[in-house]
This record gives sequence, C-alpha cells and structure tokens, in this order.
Amino acid sequence: TDDLAARLAARIRDVPDYPKPGVVFKDIAPLLDDAEAFAGLVDHLAERARALGATKVVGLEARGFILAAPAAYAAGAGFVPVRKEGKLPGALHRQSYDLEYGSAVVEVQQDAFTPGERVLVVDDVLATGGTVEASLDLVRRAGAELAGVVVLMELGFLGGRERLAPHLGGAPLEAIIAI
Ligand code: PRP
Ligand code: MG
Repeated sequence: TDDLAARLAARIRDVPDYPKPGVVFKDIAPLLDDAEAFAGLVDHLAERARALGATKVVGLEARGFILAAPAAYAAGAGFVPVRKEGKLPGALHRQSYDLEYGSAVVEVQQDAFTPGERVLVVDDVLATGGTVEASLDLVRRAGAELAGVVVLMELGFLGGRERLAPHLGGAPLEAIIAI
C-alpha cells in the first residue's frame, strides 16, 4: 500500500557523492535495522510471491539476497541466488551486463529450477536495469517462467523499466517506491 511505501521510503537514506562524486547512494541500512519496517517489507514481498504463484524467489547478489531469502521462507517458496561471477560451483548459466565503466557477469546454477517453474525476481534498487535484465535472461535460460519482478525502489529517471519491458514476457514489474 501507499502507507507501506511511505513508511519504507522514510527509512531509506540518501548518501550524496557515494560511491563517487555526483551519485546519490540509496542506503537501505536504516530500513533493514528497523524491525517493523523490515518485517513490513518482507511480508509484502512474500504476499507478492504467493499472489503471483511463485514457487521460487530469486535474489540478486548482494542486497537482493537480504530481501529475497526471508520473503521466500515466508511465502513457502524456495530461494535461488543469482551470483556475481566465480562464486557458484557446477554447471552454470552466465550472462554479462554493462556497467558505467566496463562490464560484469552474473551466474545461476543450471539445475536451480524445474522446467516451467514460476519465479519471482527480487532486488533492492532498479537503476539502469542492467542487473535485472541479465538475471531475467538467466532465469529464462534455466527453464523457469517469470512470475514477476519486485524491487523495493525504482529510479525512474535511469530508464530501467523501459529497458526491461522487452524481457518481461508480460510479467509484472512492481516497484514499492518509485522516484
Ligand atoms: C546495485 C543494486 C542493484 C543494482 C541496480 O547493486 O543493489 O542490484 O545496483 O543497478 P542497475 O539497475 O543499474 O543494474 P550493486 O551491483 O551495486 O551491488 P550489491 O547489491 O552487491 O551491493
Ligand atoms: Mg545489487
């Protein structure tokens, strides 16, 4: 609800010029360390997982893990990590994505999903959309069906929603807070 969005937004701290000059970092630490706000966020994510019929919740390393794992537990779903390169053993799907300078790689284990399984992807912030876009490609290649994407906060001026539109296959992209 809007009430939840307002309560959560009040606990996200803007840190100017971090990690570099001109960037305003969205620090979710004051939200995470507040028992009521954290529970409200996790309960909302779990409700969305259930409503969208997700049997797995995917968290994007690192901050997405903090939200996706308790949401998966509360929804009675499994948790799957999308990790940065070199952290997972065994057969993997890999996808590179562009950063402001250079590129990065995310990976998921090939046997993380059963074929056609419905998956909710969770992260803290949607900025340019590069991280989520790469993760959606991994989910698809691993044989799962996208149930939806939920982010705590969307930075609309960076165009992530437009970038992701062709990759959603009709699944919803929900932001609790949109700025
Ligand atoms: C941040 C944030 C999102 C991503 C959003 O993660 O947590 O995952 O950037 O940016 P994008 O939409 O432009 O891809 P980051 O890679 O900084 O690292 P962390 O989660 O490991 O802290
Ligand atoms: Mg992240």
